[in-house]
Amino acid sequence: MAGVDAIVLGYPNWWGTVPMAVKTFLDAIDLDGVTIAPLCTNEGSGLGGSVGDLRRSYPAANVVEGLSVRGTDAKSSTRKAVAWAKKAIA
Ligand SMILES: Cc1cc2nc3c(=O)[nH]c(=O)nc-3n(C[C@H](O)[C@H](O)[C@H](O)COP(=O)(O)O)c2cc1C
Repeated sequence: MAGVDAIVLGYPNWWGTVPMAVKTFLDAIDLDGVTIAPLCTNEGSGLGGSVGDLRRSYPAANVVEGLSVRGTDAKSSTRKAVAWAKKAIA
Protein backbone atom coordinates (compact mmCIF):
# COMPACT_ATOMS: atom_id res chain seq x y z
CA MET A 1 0.00 0.00 0.00
CA ALA A 2 3.05 2.29 0.06
CA GLY A 3 2.36 5.38 -2.02
CA VAL A 4 -1.38 4.68 -2.21
CA ASP A 5 -3.36 7.71 -1.04
CA ALA A 6 -6.90 6.66 -2.00
CA ILE A 7 -8.84 3.44 -2.39
CA VAL A 8 -12.29 2.61 -3.71
CA LEU A 9 -13.52 0.03 -1.23
CA GLY A 10 -16.13 -2.28 -2.73
CA TYR A 11 -18.14 -4.51 -0.39
CA PRO A 12 -21.60 -5.98 0.08
CA ASN A 13 -23.83 -4.73 2.89
CA TRP A 14 -23.94 -7.59 5.38
CA TRP A 15 -26.26 -7.14 8.33
CA GLY A 16 -26.23 -3.39 7.84
CA THR A 17 -22.50 -2.83 7.62
CA VAL A 18 -19.10 -3.84 6.23
CA PRO A 19 -18.40 -7.60 6.30
CA MET A 20 -15.83 -8.63 8.91
CA ALA A 21 -13.59 -10.07 6.19
CA VAL A 22 -13.28 -6.59 4.68
CA LYS A 23 -12.40 -5.13 8.07
CA THR A 24 -9.76 -7.83 8.49
CA PHE A 25 -8.20 -6.59 5.25
CA LEU A 26 -8.36 -2.96 6.38
CA ASP A 27 -6.89 -3.85 9.78
CA ALA A 28 -3.82 -5.22 8.01
CA ILE A 29 -2.90 -2.06 6.10
CA ASP A 30 -1.69 1.41 7.06
CA LEU A 31 -4.61 3.78 6.45
CA ASP A 32 -3.00 6.92 7.87
CA GLY A 33 -4.11 9.79 5.61
CA VAL A 34 -5.65 7.41 3.06
CA THR A 35 -8.95 8.41 1.45
CA ILE A 36 -11.49 5.57 1.43
CA ALA A 37 -14.40 5.80 -1.01
CA PRO A 38 -17.04 3.22 0.06
CA LEU A 39 -18.90 1.43 -2.75
CA CYS A 40 -21.58 -0.77 -1.21
CA THR A 41 -23.80 -3.29 -2.97
CA ASN A 42 -26.94 -4.27 -1.14
CA GLU A 43 -30.48 -5.51 -1.58
CA GLY A 44 -32.33 -2.56 -0.10
CA SER A 45 -30.50 -1.28 2.98
CA GLY A 46 -28.25 1.07 1.03
CA LEU A 47 -24.98 1.85 2.77
CA GLY A 48 -26.59 1.02 6.13
CA GLY A 49 -24.27 2.01 8.96
CA SER A 50 -21.14 1.12 7.00
CA VAL A 51 -19.80 4.64 6.42
CA GLY A 52 -20.16 5.57 10.10
CA ASP A 53 -18.63 2.25 11.13
CA LEU A 54 -15.66 2.80 8.83
CA ARG A 55 -15.16 6.33 10.17
CA ARG A 56 -15.26 5.08 13.76
CA SER A 57 -13.00 2.09 13.12
CA TYR A 58 -10.40 3.93 11.01
CA PRO A 59 -10.17 7.51 12.31
CA ALA A 60 -6.78 8.01 10.65
CA ALA A 61 -8.39 7.53 7.24
CA ASN A 62 -10.59 10.01 5.38
CA VAL A 63 -13.82 8.14 4.64
CA VAL A 64 -15.78 10.11 2.03
CA GLU A 65 -19.44 9.85 1.03
CA GLY A 66 -20.23 6.40 -0.30
CA LEU A 67 -22.16 5.04 -3.25
CA SER A 68 -24.96 2.51 -2.84
CA VAL A 69 -25.69 0.11 -5.71
CA ARG A 70 -28.32 -2.62 -5.71
CA GLY A 71 -26.56 -5.95 -6.19
CA THR A 72 -28.97 -6.76 -9.00
CA ASP A 73 -28.00 -3.47 -10.73
CA ALA A 74 -24.24 -3.90 -10.30
CA LYS A 75 -23.56 -5.09 -13.84
CA SER A 76 -25.29 -2.07 -15.36
CA SER A 77 -23.81 0.46 -12.93
CA THR A 78 -20.21 0.64 -14.13
CA ARG A 79 -20.54 4.10 -15.72
CA LYS A 80 -22.24 5.54 -12.63
CA ALA A 81 -19.66 3.97 -10.31
CA VAL A 82 -16.68 5.21 -12.32
CA ALA A 83 -18.09 8.77 -12.43
CA TRP A 84 -18.69 8.69 -8.67
CA ALA A 85 -15.25 7.23 -7.94
CA LYS A 86 -13.45 9.89 -9.99
CA LYS A 87 -15.12 12.61 -7.90
CA ALA A 88 -14.85 10.74 -4.61
CA ILE A 89 -11.07 10.32 -4.75
CA ALA A 90 -10.25 13.53 -6.67
C1 LIG B 1 -24.80 -12.63 5.30
C2 LIG B 1 -25.52 -11.59 4.42
C3 LIG B 1 -26.09 -10.49 5.03
C4 LIG B 1 -26.74 -9.50 4.25
N1 LIG B 1 -27.28 -8.41 4.86
C5 LIG B 1 -27.88 -7.46 4.10
C6 LIG B 1 -28.44 -6.31 4.70
O1 LIG B 1 -28.42 -6.11 5.92
N2 LIG B 1 -29.03 -5.38 3.88
C7 LIG B 1 -29.08 -5.54 2.51
O2 LIG B 1 -29.63 -4.67 1.84
N3 LIG B 1 -28.55 -6.63 1.91
C8 LIG B 1 -27.96 -7.59 2.67
N4 LIG B 1 -27.42 -8.70 2.06
C9 LIG B 1 -27.45 -8.79 0.60
C10 LIG B 1 -26.10 -8.42 0.01
O3 LIG B 1 -25.75 -7.08 0.32
C11 LIG B 1 -26.13 -8.63 -1.51
O4 LIG B 1 -26.25 -10.00 -1.73
C12 LIG B 1 -24.89 -8.13 -2.17
O5 LIG B 1 -24.71 -6.75 -2.02
C13 LIG B 1 -24.93 -8.38 -3.67
O6 LIG B 1 -23.82 -9.06 -3.97
P1 LIG B 1 -23.93 -10.56 -4.56
O7 LIG B 1 -24.75 -10.41 -5.82
O8 LIG B 1 -22.51 -10.93 -4.79
O9 LIG B 1 -24.62 -11.37 -3.48
C14 LIG B 1 -26.80 -9.67 2.84
C15 LIG B 1 -26.23 -10.81 2.24
C16 LIG B 1 -25.61 -11.76 3.02
C17 LIG B 1 -25.00 -12.99 2.35
